[in-house]
Amino acid sequence: MTEQDFILKDYTTIIESGKVKWEAPSNIALVKYWGKRENQIPENPSISFTLSNCKTITEVTYTKKQGYNFSFDVIFEGEKNEAFKPKIQTFFERIEAYVPFLRDYHFTIETSNTFPHSSGIASSASGMSALALCLMSIEEDLGIDHSADYFNKKASFLARLGSGSACRSIEGELVVWGQNDVTESSDLFGVKFEGAIHPNFQEYQDAILLVDKGEKQVSSTVGHKLMYGHPFAKKRFAQAHENLSELRDVLISGNQKRLIEIVESEALTLHAMMMTSMPYFILMKPNTLEIINKIWQFRKDTGLHVCFTLDAGANVHVLFPKTEAEKVYEFIKSQLVVYCQNGHYICDSVGKGAKRLAHLPAK
Ligand code: DP6
Repeated sequence: MTEQDFILKDYTTIIESGKVKWEAPSNIALVKYWGKRENQIPENPSISFTLSNCKTITEVTYTKKQGYNFSFDVIFEGEKNEAFKPKIQTFFERIEAYVPFLRDYHFTIETSNTFPHSSGIASSASGMSALALCLMSIEEDLGIDHSADYFNKKASFLARLGSGSACRSIEGELVVWGQNDVTESSDLFGVKFEGAIHPNFQEYQDAILLVDKGEKQVSSTVGHKLMYGHPFAKKRFAQAHENLSELRDVLISGNQKRLIEIVESEALTLHAMMMTSMPYFILMKPNTLEIINKIWQFRKDTGLHVCFTLDAGANVHVLFPKTEAEKVYEFIKSQLVVYCQNGHYICDSVGKGAKRLAHLPAK
């Protein structure tokens, strides 16, 4: 498929108003997206677990308007929010060719997260995917009939233009984004991992340890730019291809030891890229390292299959199979909680993707 396939051509705006509502999850990458080209095209393929509990719930009310400019209000957790508007304005500018009705309606976007805003958990993936899904439902309200497959692909395509990783937040449980030789994929949208996931990796758990709840030190937009002219960029992009290729086999064969090695190496490589860019950053905190060392020791002592991954920040995602959940949560409570800010952590697990919520018929 190409960009052309997502351009909405024939539609009417006889509908005066309506309301749509979606919830969309966050996701955690196993092979990381870090580095992008023009138009949100990733430099390398990535794969992520869709989460279940960390999600954004968004309701969009649309009303026919006059005039050419975009018109929208954002209400975040019950209060009018100006801070999110520039990001949504940019999003609308990037996607208007594909959803031209954006100029025909005023939108009231009411949104909230199930996780605390100041948790250091990025809400852009779940937020942009929830909004993209609402726009797809409005497209349907306007009389456009889609197959479920096209609906998901276009929602993911639009979400990507809001935030790259958001394109992996439409479906579950594992989603691949970015051209590669071993899985069905595209640079334009995320697709469900097509292999049969081994029972070892089904219902995987993710305990998110909140080490630093502050604002991100480096925004992802700035972070991705650090890969331009980065001395190790070429090798890193090639490595992501190799890791995805091997992880594909591992996810099917159930090799837990190898999954752990690939996932932890990916997390540390992501941070190594930030430490070796110009300017350079250290986004881990002392407690991030304390947690990593404790996980390694615990794994050595118990033989359990617990590992960590990181995003572009200090928080630690602790990953483990459901069958080991009781023991791992015991370990988290007794040994890791002390390293979390105010003792906070979030219990999550692999989820099945976004869900449409109550939807009033259009008038
Ligand atoms: C480290 O998707 O937040 O989480 O496309 O600029 O919005 P933009 O970036 P974003 O980058 C996420 C990077 C990451 C790794 C990943 O999720 O693959």
